[in-house]
Amino acid sequence: MQTRPLGTTGPQVSALGLGCMGMSALYGDADRTESIATVHAALEAGVTLLDTGDFYAMGHNEMLIGEALRTAPAELREKALLSVKFGALRGPGGEWFGYDGRPAAVKNFAAYSLQRLGVDHIDVYRIARVDPDVPIEETVGAIAELVEQGYVRHIGLSEAGAETIRRAAATAPVTDLQIEYSLISRGIEEEILPTTRELGIGITAYGVLSRGLISGHFTRDRRLAANDFRAMSPRFQGENLEHNLGLVEALRKVADGKGVSVAQTAIAWVLSRGEDIVPLVGARTRERLGEALGALDVTLDDADLAAIEEAVPAGAAAGERYPQAQMSHLDSER
Ligand SMILES: NC(=O)c1ccc[n+]([C@@H]2O[C@H](COP(=O)([O-])OP(=O)(O)OC[C@H]3O[C@@H](n4cnc5c(N)ncnc54)[C@H](OP(=O)(O)O)[C@@H]3O)[C@@H](O)[C@H]2O)c1
Repeated sequence: MQTRPLGTTGPQVSALGLGCMGMSALYGDADRTESIATVHAALEAGVTLLDTGDFYAMGHNEMLIGEALRTAPAELREKALLSVKFGALRGPGGEWFGYDGRPAAVKNFAAYSLQRLGVDHIDVYRIARVDPDVPIEETVGAIAELVEQGYVRHIGLSEAGAETIRRAAATAPVTDLQIEYSLISRGIEEEILPTTRELGIGITAYGVLSRGLISGHFTRDRRLAANDFRAMSPRFQGENLEHNLGLVEALRKVADGKGVSVAQTAIAWVLSRGEDIVPLVGARTRERLGEALGALDVTLDDADLAAIEEAVPAGAAAGERYPQAQMSHLDSER
């Protein structure tokens, strides 16, 4: 397995991480047995970075990962690095009530996560969205105390903008920023990526397949459950979806020319953007995982990159990456 550094202060991790969210939430039903088999297959293939959030189906995803780790061979379990997001406030019916980054809340969230995961420390801990009511120095400062106490190894950020990144990094060492980055979500290139590079902070990129939209597998007639994120996502609606699937067909021509899949081309493009970027892929079956791992063998030369740029130029997607109400929670979009 190829590896990449997670920023200048973090660990060396597999060049692809496994994002486990879809195994519990937001993309419709998932098969628990297959999800656990997928985590095991990822660890066997050399994937070391597993990403979760305590609010993914209210602890379900952490308990699933805990079970996958308990039932994995010890030598694989020991290599797993857990990246955990916290801070989202949920109701029993799945409601979203905002975020809580107060120091006592940070420690409370961590205490529960450690139990659900069945581990004595979390490798990278981060608030999922910057809490607008709590200075980032206080939230990061609380994680830094957890680092001192041995409960957390590294501090991460999620969807933070350049100014917040600087303030956080001035408080304590930050290893990585988790943020959406793909062929059709390139917002970080202007200000955020230059900032993380200046400060030696890595990127764990999510939505590399734009939640399946640019995977080459998503079809316009796919039925989505009411609680599927994509049923509300602007990019998956009506004319936007038509336009965006048109981009996928253009990308498919490039992929076909190279004898690889659309998903592999999209993942390889993110991998090609820099050694400081680690794509998280949201595979929840062994089949999808196998396809995603194949991206590590895809080399994109200048001609390939030019053809991809022509097929999917920057800013070509129709629709925002989140519904309006959720866009307003993104410090990175301010
Ligand atoms: N920090 C944040 O704000 C944030 C937000 C979202 C996600 N994340 C993290 O990032 C991870 C990845 O995000 P994501 O799930 O949205 O990303 P993604 O990889 O862009 O999308 C995953 C979706 O793509 C589909 N897909 C099709 N082919 C695939 C393939 N070969 N490999 C993987 N997936 C394929 C999956 O399909 P099927 O329907 O066939 O399973 C799944 O629905 C999450 O699991 C989560 O840990 C973080």
